[in-house]
Amino acid sequence: MKDIVFATNNQHKLEEIRRIIGDRFRVLSLKDIGCHEEIPETSDTLEGNAMQKARYVKEHYGYDCFADDTGLMVDALDGAPGVYSARYAGPGHDSEANVALLLGNLEGCGNRKAHFSTVIALIMDGEEVTFEGRVDGEILNERHGEGGFGYDPVFRPEECDLSFAEMSADAKNAISHRGRATARLLRYLESK
Ligand code: IMP
Repeated sequence: MKDIVFATNNQHKLEEIRRIIGDRFRVLSLKDIGCHEEIPETSDTLEGNAMQKARYVKEHYGYDCFADDTGLMVDALDGAPGVYSARYAGPGHDSEANVALLLGNLEGCGNRKAHFSTVIALIMDGEEVTFEGRVDGEILNERHGEGGFGYDPVFRPEECDLSFAEMSADAKNAISHRGRATARLLRYLESK
């Protein structure tokens, strides 16, 4: 079976992708290949950051690799937090603080439109390819639900009554930004 690195140590993402492509690839995490350093993410685009991570692994460790980057773009905030979604409230990746800041910045704002975007960058057999997924929706006035992670409690996808945090993992994956990008990655891998 062919090895491929998913440039993450997020167990939730690893399990999700292994369920999808685990019968064709041995999916290795950064920890599995002994990569313990912080990989630079210095681009101001999702695509740039995802490709930067995939290239870093290819160049330093030699493995074929894919990497992802996700952002929440809020219309009334001119696309913020966007590529800076993980550190919106400052360094430290604290989702509670990020959500609190987002709700504060949107207080009294009538336009709640937002979307999540994910870009997956793949380097395989000497080729570089990217896959995108997007889901449109709105930012709720307060948190709803206990599931998911990050901004899930305050994001309600279009044509749904529930926030992402109120949905089952399968229901979320079926329509989510990452689910859609992953489906495109899978289609590409199946065509190889
Ligand atoms: P990452 O690129 O997957 O690390 O995502 C960047 C930030 O976006 C994370 O820190 C989360 O706060 C947020 N995020 C990514 N994916 C999701 C999601 O599916 N739901 C809610 N928030 C997310």
